[in-house]
Amino acid sequence: MTLDLAVLVSGSGSNLQSIIDRVESGALDARIRLVLSNKPGAYGLERAKKHGIPVACLEHSAFPVREAFDAEMVRIIRAHGATSVAMAGFMRMVTPVFLGAFPGHVVNIHPALLPAFPGVHGQRDAADYGVRFSGCTVHFVDEKMDHGPVIIQAVVPAYPEDDGDTLGRRILGLEHRIYPQALQWLAQGRLSLRGRKVVVAPASCSSDSSPAPAPVAPAEECMVNPPLEPGF
Ligand code: GRF
Repeated sequence: MTLDLAVLVSGSGSNLQSIIDRVESGALDARIRLVLSNKPGAYGLERAKKHGIPVACLEHSAFPVREAFDAEMVRIIRAHGATSVAMAGFMRMVTPVFLGAFPGHVVNIHPALLPAFPGVHGQRDAADYGVRFSGCTVHFVDEKMDHGPVIIQAVVPAYPEDDGDTLGRRILGLEHRIYPQALQWLAQGRLSLRGRKVVVAPASCSSDSSPAPAPVAPAEECMVNPPLEPGF
């Protein structure tokens, strides 16, 4: 089923770009109905415009409480026909007002292996801690920060010379692969919850009738679980 998607950004939007690219390549079965930012200068808005995608900007500072901001976001997203939401570098937590409008259809990407290093400096915190591996996580969003059920994670090595920037760049390359993949599973209706565990159904069990694709072998320097499928 084609995903009617709103992508929320606050900054550069490189993850948005990876989603756009996978939609355009045909690997991701989605229509990006809207790109919404809470920051007027977000470069993600420019990326969207270049691809003819509708944009909206809603400054959270104009709202007295989070719930009022969230209610207006819901209104705008629905007005554009989106029923699923991908947060891609969107630097705001959302309330039940927002989550209740798109149940099971709000996802986020975080640049660390959750539950380690949540928060806005995940890459820097991991580098400063001296971990040997870090990575990125796509997860369903719940009311707590960087907390909901994990859909897919990818691992990269971390080195003593790393700082948040060098480690972050290594992680970002994999963010751009696992986020569109997770969204495609959502589009195919292959994600279900067992408690807080996410189960990814085999492709042959999905509602579309295409044959089960062979997983792509992850590059030597990384691990991705569940494995990426062709096109991601
Ligand atoms: C990414 O590292 C993402 O994981 C985090 O914010 C960053 C956004 O980057 N939530 P971009 O705007 O997609 O380039």
